Amino acid sequence: MTHAIAIDGLSGAGKSTVSRLLAQYLGIHYLDTGAMYRSLAYAAKEARINLTQEDQIKDWLPASGLEIVLDNQGQKTFIHGVDVSNLIRTPEMSRLSSEISALPPVRHYCVAKQRELANQKPLVLDGRDIGSFVLPDADFKFYLEATAEERAKRRWLQMQIDADPNTKTQSLEQVLQEIRSRDINDSNRKLAPAVAAEDAIVIDTTKLNLDQVVDRILYLMQEKANTNEITKSFWHEYLEKAQVFDYDKGKEEI
Ligand code: DC
Repeated sequence: MTHAIAIDGLSGAGKSTVSRLLAQYLGIHYLDTGAMYRSLAYAAKEARINLTQEDQIKDWLPASGLEIVLDNQGQKTFIHGVDVSNLIRTPEMSRLSSEISALPPVRHYCVAKQRELANQKPLVLDGRDIGSFVLPDADFKFYLEATAEERAKRRWLQMQIDADPNTKTQSLEQVLQEIRSRDINDSNRKLAPAVAAEDAIVIDTTKLNLDQVVDRILYLMQEKANTNEITKSFWHEYLEKAQVFDYDKGKEEI
């Protein structure tokens, strides 16, 4: 039986930092599903796979060498045994991953892996379609939003402390353009576009800091768990573990 927390939203909405922290508080693992699409984009480029040839991609996927390792240190992503976790964080891979993720065979391949991992243990998963498509029965579903300007600003600030010299050369305006173009790709693709599931709780993070978002999520989880015995019996112990959490903090401004 799957027990998952889905954190969806567009690029730069803060999903990965929020999900990592949330998983840490709860004492469970975090699966960054975007890293799968990024790694496949990286592997496809290395293997000189033509992204317009869907049949060719379908045949190549099982041989792409993608492997995900989740442990207490976080997630590591490998291609043919090489750790590509940092190599996939470039503007080029952001663009290519958005492109490759629109291809149905790629989505089917990644979604099958995500479901398999979620079947093994409780997870926080972040992505675009976790609550709406990958795990429609997830115990908790959140959709993080923020204006494109705010998301670009966060991403740009992160790039300033990023060690990769390629990312430092981008201006705030360029980052904003990229975010807008990925928003269009990710929200308009035919299969499983980025969308809030009907039963997801939408959180506008534009004016919230990281801690406030995590507090709110924990508060809402606790609140939902209190109304559902099955959810409560499974998550009670994990919510207890989030001891740093002051239950009433997340209640503010809801
Ligand atoms: O979250 P991210 O920026 O690392 O994701 C990279 C790309 O992968 C993103 O532009 C869209 C795609 N993606 C997706 O289609 N579905 C997901 N569940 C996660 C990411």
